[in-house]
Amino acid sequence: MLEALHSLVCEVERDRSLERPEQLRERIRAMDRLEDVLLHEPQAESPAAGAVFNTLRRRARERLGVLADVQQRLCEGIRHAIMQGAGAHALRGWLHHDDLREPWGYDHLDALIGDVLSLDEPDSVAALEAEMVFYQPTPVRHVLDLIHRARLGRDDVLVDLGSGMGHVPLLVSICTDAKACGIEREEAYVASARRAAETLRIERATFLAQDAREADISRGTVFYLYTPFTGDMLRHMLDRLHDEARRRSIRVATLGPCTPAVASEPWLRAASEPDAGRVTLFRSVA
Ligand SMILES: C[S@@+](CC[C@H](N)C(=O)[O-])C[C@H]1O[C@@H](n2cnc3c(N)ncnc32)[C@H](O)[C@@H]1O
Repeated sequence: MLEALHSLVCEVERDRSLERPEQLRERIRAMDRLEDVLLHEPQAESPAAGAVFNTLRRRARERLGVLADVQQRLCEGIRHAIMQGAGAHALRGWLHHDDLREPWGYDHLDALIGDVLSLDEPDSVAALEAEMVFYQPTPVRHVLDLIHRARLGRDDVLVDLGSGMGHVPLLVSICTDAKACGIEREEAYVASARRAAETLRIERATFLAQDAREADISRGTVFYLYTPFTGDMLRHMLDRLHDEARRRSIRVATLGPCTPAVASEPWLRAASEPDAGRVTLFRSVA
């Protein structure tokens, strides 16, 4: 334990490249490792070992502070650019979505976007009804994949059905010319999303605090479902989307376990082999 802490502290102190903004992945990983060791209070076997632990923990905290400052300056720069309407340009160099082999779990891109959007996690939320899925954000690399493959344009309105704290509509509005709307039943999440949109002056992202099954979806051109609900609730929503598709062509994008159910809808054609582990895009057929 002592040796592991010692070698980690020496390694991250020695590696000055972690202070270079572009070393995002490596810096976030180092910060995670430091936070992890600082979480656990060590059981020292003797007063002398306790003193060594304390010194190493102080050094770990100091190094974490330096790296957190680098991260904060980076995020402040990106936030400022977003407020000036230049967010897509500011984020372009950071947001690579090259590796989708690991479908679940969060990485350095989630850490970056989490800091940039600074969404406040509510203290408490209402209980979910049966068939509603609890809040879990889409990993940022999948949002980027969606943005890249859907080629959203000025005339598109992406609707995130069950949008949680809203980072999909927020990112879509920052990175594309499309409008985006989040529909979420939990008011505290919607309040968080609206605060972020207002602070960052992201005017093309709007949020409705409503049950998605009852909301006005007539403006949407692309409907995104990161499995917000299952069973009859999903069935009901798919029927509503089908009604929309009878009037105009729409697209549906899915991620997660709702994908096979959506893929079996005869009025939708998938653009690629449906895969629950990555975004699948569907287009309605007449
Ligand atoms: C898996 S999370 C997806 C969050 C977000 N779409 C994303 O990808 O980051 C599912 C969300 O759907 C919301 N939800 C569940 N049932 C809903 C309903 N009937 N109407 C609106 N939101 C709902 C939940 O509160 C939760 O925030």
